[in-house]
Amino acid sequence: MKILNFGSLNIDYVYEVDHMVQPGETLRAKSRQVFCGGKGLNQSTALANAGAEVYHAGIVGQDGTILLDALRKAGADTSLVKMVEGESSHTFIQVDPNGQNSILFFAGDNLAITEDFIDEVISRFRPGDYILLQNELNNTPLIMEKAHQQGLKIVLNPSPIQKAVLDYPLHLVHIFMVNEIEGSLLSGKSEPEEILSSLTEKYPDSNIILTLGEKGAYYAYREERIFQPAYPVEAVDTTAAGDTFTGFFLAAYTEGKSVKESMELAAKASSITVTRKGAAPSIPKLEEVI
Ligand code: RIB
Repeated sequence: MKILNFGSLNIDYVYEVDHMVQPGETLRAKSRQVFCGGKGLNQSTALANAGAEVYHAGIVGQDGTILLDALRKAGADTSLVKMVEGESSHTFIQVDPNGQNSILFFAGDNLAITEDFIDEVISRFRPGDYILLQNELNNTPLIMEKAHQQGLKIVLNPSPIQKAVLDYPLHLVHIFMVNEIEGSLLSGKSEPEEILSSLTEKYPDSNIILTLGEKGAYYAYREERIFQPAYPVEAVDTTAAGDTFTGFFLAAYTEGKSVKESMELAAKASSITVTRKGAAPSIPKLEEVI
């Protein structure tokens, strides 16, 4: 069983700030660092760090060698990442003294996913393999349809969420990985319990993971509920915490661990990520987690 992550690869420009810049304000940043990121790349890194066999598919520009090197170093297969003319996608990330972030994402080449490329990628996988998707690429609904036709199990982290996600073929999703904001938009509810009830009713064949940051995470499938508390730590930078949870959960779950064990591992891993700066480089290795 293989895991395909059809996902974004971004160069993150990370600025340490006293507070998030306000409308009309010019703010001097305290430092700037450049990291490999993108929800896709981060989740592939987490999967590979957790020991999974992961194949990353996506697009980088001419400056994307550092992104490819980072994925390879983590142990992910990059033979399905295309390098095209132009620049890779990038973000500007502000991180405040509480470790909270605010991300401006310029999608660039992440939006160059064509139907031919999707066919080429999907044809390399077999029924029963998993495909992990976020929402930083174009053509995500088409990827979902084609992955389903090929018999792949779809794991969707609809982040960053937009209303357009409601028109995706969400009934095809095997596992939803959502935070409170994403869960609210998909369900139309605001409280965690209500979000879970609504999503399990709307998508009775899907497994739902609802992450709540420092408040923990829930798993729901029909009537079943599992709660995993977060491990309390001093947060320095929360970037990639959700991506770490997704990657470690999926690696453990697809390896045959129970949902409870997989959530516990994922919670431990993401508690380490928030104590470190940056996206992909902050994601721990399995030996640091167990
Ligand atoms: O989830 C964190 C990621 O979101 C960052 O690495 C940034 O690239 C954005 O995609």
